[in-house]
Amino acid sequence: MNKDTFTFTNNRTGEKYEFDIIDATRGPSVVDISSFYKQTGMFTFDVGYTSTASCTSYITFIDGEKGELRYRGHEIEDLAENHSYLETCYLLLNGKLPTEEELLDFDLELRNRSFIDENLRHLIAAFPDSAHPMSILSSGVSALSSFYYEHLNIDDEAEYQEMARRIIAKIPTLAAFAYRKSLGIPFIYPDVDKSFTENFLYMLRAYPGGKLKRTSEGREEIKKIEVEALDAIFTLHADHEQNASTTTVRNVASTGAHPYVAISAGISALWGRAHGGANESVIAQLEMIGEVENVDAYIARAKDHDDDFRLMGFGHRVYKNFDPRARELKKLQDQLKDELNLDSKLMDIAHKIEEIALNDEYFIERKLYPNIDFYSGVILTALKLERPMFTPIFVIGRTVGWITQLMEFKTDPASKIARPRQLYLGK
Ligand code: ACO
Repeated sequence: MNKDTFTFTNNRTGEKYEFDIIDATRGPSVVDISSFYKQTGMFTFDVGYTSTASCTSYITFIDGEKGELRYRGHEIEDLAENHSYLETCYLLLNGKLPTEEELLDFDLELRNRSFIDENLRHLIAAFPDSAHPMSILSSGVSALSSFYYEHLNIDDEAEYQEMARRIIAKIPTLAAFAYRKSLGIPFIYPDVDKSFTENFLYMLRAYPGGKLKRTSEGREEIKKIEVEALDAIFTLHADHEQNASTTTVRNVASTGAHPYVAISAGISALWGRAHGGANESVIAQLEMIGEVENVDAYIARAKDHDDDFRLMGFGHRVYKNFDPRARELKKLQDQLKDELNLDSKLMDIAHKIEEIALNDEYFIERKLYPNIDFYSGVILTALKLERPMFTPIFVIGRTVGWITQLMEFKTDPASKIARPRQLYLGK
């Protein structure tokens, strides 16, 4: 580690304080201010943690200026185009891609663990039909902690890995049940003969008895291209270092709470429209804009400081360049356009927004580029997924990231309970 230091001068007293600079393997170095209060009697102030690193991590790297994202050193483009979501899960959890045999074992284990306890099914059934699937999902995952109360001993690696694989396996089932509950239709149990992603689409679409919808042309089927597209979407969402929901998971875990309760809190954090809820808002906004001719007026609103209207799917705290996940989804959208009959009107409006915003001084100056949510909604619509399911899809992809980050937190001897301070301005 580098031993360089950073000196702060208090201009009120002339006193100087030195803090270590720690270099990252990639990305910005940090100034270790953990002894700042002890040395200076003052806190640092950073609303929204825009300049604050809260942990060390070996999992995911983002270069927001370049628009680069890597999981365990692997470029996101390579993972999305050449590897499956399950391989990506294995990579995140174990730090390396699986061999063929390891992948087979991992896949089988997830298939066999995909069922949920019947009592949990009853719990989901008790929600009102009008419940949003995200609300059912966050409650269902919290309730999982009652069914699996063990796994709190982080010293037992095998136990923690089992806890992680269990939640990854059950999340699609919970999400599909939550969706079917919101429609008031019977639950479909997992089919162990189907792959992770195909099984999820099956649990959403099948009729009781396991058959898909019958049309005048015959029975509908789940197309290979649909499975591949959704699998890539899961991969693109699998982790994103210390975002709001992951930080929530780490903070809840820092108190010693059950891992599934921490994941449930992450799901709640993700639901907000400034975070994962944006994919639902993007489609709602495109529909509200309605016609290509209306785009200019909405762009003007987005630029008006007296109007709180924001272009959903634009801007990102970290990316000050094209979000690489968005670039992958844009490619995917172009590939799927004809095969899946993507709604061309929504796409036309989206293209127009993209074209104007990428050339407009307001967006250029503020480095506002399309983010992952700008494109995912149009693709998910083409996969016949209803809007309230967009954020649950994000949850399915992200669960592996949350649980991997949680395990990293638990095994890091430097971890502490999260307890920020404040600048008190009250009476
Ligand atoms: N439309 C119009 N203006 C915007 C937008 C937008 N989508 N996003 C940011 N701006 C403007 C702000 O008004 C501000 O302008 P100002 O400097 O003149 O006051 C400037 O850009 C900086 O914006 P902040 O809100 O300070 O940026 P921050 O990093 O805090 O917010 C965020 C990032 C929340 C993603 C924001 O860009 C946003 O609200 N985007 C729309 C929602 C969205 O797409 N969220 C998904 C994020 S990706 C994800 O979670 C998977």
